[in-house]
Amino acid sequence: MTKDAIILAIESSCDETAAAVVKNGREVLSNVISSQIELHKLYGGVVPEIASRKHIEKINQVIEEALDQAKVSLQEIDGIAVTYGPGLVGALLVGVAEAKAISFALNKPLIGVHHIEGHISANYIENKELEPPFICLIVSGGHTHLVLVNDYGEYEIIGHTRDDAAGEAFDKVARAIGLGYPGGPKIDKLAKEGNKEAVAFPRANIEEAPYDFSFSGLKSAVLNHLNSCEMKKIEVNKADIAASFQEAVVDVLVSKTIMAAEEYGLDRIAIAGGVAANSALRDGMNKKCQEKGLKLYYPSPIYCTDNAAMIGSAAYYEYIKGIRHGLDLNAVPNLRLGQR
Ligand code: KG4
Ligand code: ZN
Repeated sequence: MTKDAIILAIESSCDETAAAVVKNGREVLSNVISSQIELHKLYGGVVPEIASRKHIEKINQVIEEALDQAKVSLQEIDGIAVTYGPGLVGALLVGVAEAKAISFALNKPLIGVHHIEGHISANYIENKELEPPFICLIVSGGHTHLVLVNDYGEYEIIGHTRDDAAGEAFDKVARAIGLGYPGGPKIDKLAKEGNKEAVAFPRANIEEAPYDFSFSGLKSAVLNHLNSCEMKKIEVNKADIAASFQEAVVDVLVSKTIMAAEEYGLDRIAIAGGVAANSALRDGMNKKCQEKGLKLYYPSPIYCTDNAAMIGSAAYYEYIKGIRHGLDLNAVPNLRLGQR
């Protein structure tokens, strides 16, 4: 029998300081997340300088807690994984410096992980039978990608957003209707009380790139609607706006993902990233997948938003391929998927 591989993973690309211990890529021994949301709420979004400073304050404590909860010592770890991009450079650097220090001090392998690869791999944690190839829709605060997962670590981006990410649109619309940051979960909740057909918001289609997305027109349409109601002194029903906006986003995400699965002949779809926690997206995807005889996978909400367990899962598949990074590993804020 081959030896188990235990990976200590670190994630600090945005506003969560996270560490996890993951065994053989799919068994989470611990998953500790210190969220900075309360702090950034005051400013209506993530303030990069504050994020970096908080990561420095929290990272050692979060790692110690992850090791304690997993009942694993640093000596028992087979490798250290860390998100090295994309993300906020100052935030990424905290995790990268920490991982390099541990790797150097203990002489353990260092594995740099792409943040999006982490989000995709979050699907492996609870879906033990899921293996490539499949189509993955990654929808988060910073990214909206449609990706063919051909094999572990082998990705082909077939579509991406031309402007705002889906989560960014949720956050901006939430702010416009006075819901606060982060807006996604708040819109999700409020939309349940609204009528999704109340306002016909636009669905963007880019003719020459059928798998690309655009959400800035939708965001402007919501803002215009709010302005026009204000000028006409018509009272807006926030729940209806939330439901109608969410429906427009979900409609586009579901239809393009299903179209891609059919065109590329894949019968499995996975969704990932913070917006994959959205209940309307899950329901909409589920319904269409059932109709078309496709199998749908998604992580629990805790593995949808930023966490380190997903980084440990992605790192395992790099680790068994023998991929290692040197101590010259740097943070790459605009790292491309598939780039090493
Ligand atoms: O993956 P994530 O934690 O961070 C990035 O890598 O960006 O995603 C955060 C994003 C935020 O925009 C947040 O509003 C959105 O995910 N989000 C949601 C929900 N939960 C989080 N959007 C819609 N519905 C949700 N339930
Ligand atoms: Zn993320």
